[in-house]
Amino acid sequence: MKITPVKKISGELTVPGDKSISHRAIMLGSIAKGMTEIHGFLESADCLSTAACFARMGIQIEKSARTVTVHGRGLHGLKAPDGILDCGNSGTTTRLLSGLLAPQNFDVVLTGDESIQKRPMKRVIDPLTDMGARIQSVHGNGCAPLQICGSRLTGIRYNSPVASAQVKSAILLAGLYADGKTSVTEPSLSRNHTELMLRQFGGSVTSEGLTAGVLPAGELYGQRVCVPGDISSAAYFIAAALLLPHSEVLIRNVGINKTRAGILEVCRQMGASIEIANATGKAGDPSADLFVRSASLKGVTVGGPIIPTLIDELPMIAAMACFAKGTTVIRDAAELRVKESNRIAIMVDSLRAMGADIEETEDGMQIRGGRPLHGARIDTHKDHRIAMTLAVTALAAEGETELLDADCVRISYPGFYEDLGRLTV
Ligand code: S3P
Repeated sequence: MKITPVKKISGELTVPGDKSISHRAIMLGSIAKGMTEIHGFLESADCLSTAACFARMGIQIEKSARTVTVHGRGLHGLKAPDGILDCGNSGTTTRLLSGLLAPQNFDVVLTGDESIQKRPMKRVIDPLTDMGARIQSVHGNGCAPLQICGSRLTGIRYNSPVASAQVKSAILLAGLYADGKTSVTEPSLSRNHTELMLRQFGGSVTSEGLTAGVLPAGELYGQRVCVPGDISSAAYFIAAALLLPHSEVLIRNVGINKTRAGILEVCRQMGASIEIANATGKAGDPSADLFVRSASLKGVTVGGPIIPTLIDELPMIAAMACFAKGTTVIRDAAELRVKESNRIAIMVDSLRAMGADIEETEDGMQIRGGRPLHGARIDTHKDHRIAMTLAVTALAAEGETELLDADCVRISYPGFYEDLGRLTV
């Protein structure tokens, strides 16, 4: 795909539903008793991978114009699939399913695409094994394919070495079926959608500081889930509005859960003022409308406990830093190396190819802002967040940018280029 600069963006949009919440709504809906109605479900490749896995385990999932309905079969209602379960490109599907399937009374194999087969799964294999799970990396390299043989589990108190909602959620989901209480303590708090939604479905969940706990569930009950817009998708439009002079964008119904909204705080520190209106905080995840105007940005240091709250937005923050005055330091973000791609190495290479003054560090990057960027030929490495970040960056650069494998945005935001095109002037 070829992208040329634009003057500004302006207008209104509603970004598609939150990816993390959509996955969890299918999962909890499937193991709950009765019907779960999901409004605002994200129909992207990742969430469809989750839905397809549950369909293969006997769950009926129906789609109408506005809702997705999951006919849950209760905590013990999943059936053995008739073959290997394909998680596609989705780390959330692979890791959360590992926890959910370890205590079933059947065996399964989980796999996924080339990227998934390189991502670390030992982080879920180890704690689940401590609970009594029989789960193995088929090739012995700590990655998928994973062979899981259903077993009886016992609750543990797990001190996680990484702040990861996927690890935390895998353990909590396994804990629903375990004997006794299960808890996970993280080095800093990761997104808490699993805790919030489990509570909504009738689970017995505790959250105290950095520790989340769950008691074995008697039964969960189907719910109506309203999925807010994904703040990770909104981030691209926030950045485009901030970077392109005279831009004004209203993004409606964006999830602003504190464990996800670090990007708003960083934008504020960089000198932006983003207005938040019509906040609603019904059961579960809060949402609001965001009004963003262009601003002149300054460099910041991003590190410490805020990192898990903006982990997926760090590529976009790095690109924004190229246009900011002064130096930006991103640290404590080594997790970026084990996402859909090595997002530190790829962002540094790509932004440098566009003319940025940027250096890779072990756990992040350093960017000296202010050098004008120019178009380049960019390999997205089939990573959706790299593609969307560099598409926005290209709008504010000089000359033409070519994005290879640009269609990988289907993983989280199939209509991304159309939405961006609609707002560009
Ligand atoms: C997610 C958690 C994060 C995030 C990913 C979605 C989730 O991953 O990067 O896009 O839905 O739980 P980690 O748990 O690996 O940090």
